[in-house]
Amino acid sequence: MGGDEIILETERLIFRQTTIEDLDAYCDMEADPDVRRFVGGKPRSREEAEKRFLPSLQPATNGLHMWAAVLKRGNKYVGRCGIYPHFDGNGEPIPGEASFGVYLAKAWWGMGLATEAGRAFLKYGFEQLNLDRIVTMIQVGNDASVRVVEKIGFELMMIEKGEWRDFYHFAINRHRFDNFTNIVKSL
Ligand SMILES: CC(C)(COP(=O)(O)OP(=O)(O)OC[C@H]1O[C@@H](n2cnc3c(N)ncnc32)[C@H](O)[C@@H]1OP(=O)(O)O)[C@@H](O)C(=O)NCCC(=O)NCCS
Repeated sequence: MGGDEIILETERLIFRQTTIEDLDAYCDMEADPDVRRFVGGKPRSREEAEKRFLPSLQPATNGLHMWAAVLKRGNKYVGRCGIYPHFDGNGEPIPGEASFGVYLAKAWWGMGLATEAGRAFLKYGFEQLNLDRIVTMIQVGNDASVRVVEKIGFELMMIEKGEWRDFYHFAINRHRFDNFTNIVKSL
């Protein structure tokens, strides 16, 4: 799958395979301490970011992947988003499940883009990939992210206490997604 193939489209965004042209924008995003505050805690150096970036160039073999999120207006790379395999404690992907993730550069926060992207990936996961359940983990304190996932129907399942940080575990299953979508449609 090449960088020109659009996997998913929303009103303002397209999602496609990451390409080498995205490298600078990705590294700038990863160098921002505000972006990294609740996802790793510290900014990534250019060298670290480049190392992390390379695997994302691998073509996706199925729809479970983190994609480049591109604003249609101006064709601008704004971050990464997608649903990717949900691994169990032994590192095995759990059949029928996926994890949701979204990372946007700060210039694009507060415009509803993560919500728009999240809704589209839930629909994609349940209706096109036929998943049973989608999960997401959020560091306690990341209130914008909590707001996003609650707005799109995720439910808090548990709080994992860590040595340095605690994490919310959110999930949504197909049944809840269908109900949530019907309620939103009827409003
Ligand atoms: C978290 C993130 C994805 C949100 O993206 P976004 O496009 O700004 O999100 P949206 O605009 O769709 O929605 C944000 C919601 O959170 C609210 N919000 C923003 N900051 C908040 C805060 N500090 N406390 C509570 N709510 C907050 C907004 O008001 C909005 O809710 P509303 O629509 O009811 O007004 C973005 O900030 C980001 O990429 N952060 C860095 C990476 C990261 O933490 N990713 C999540 C990993 S779990």
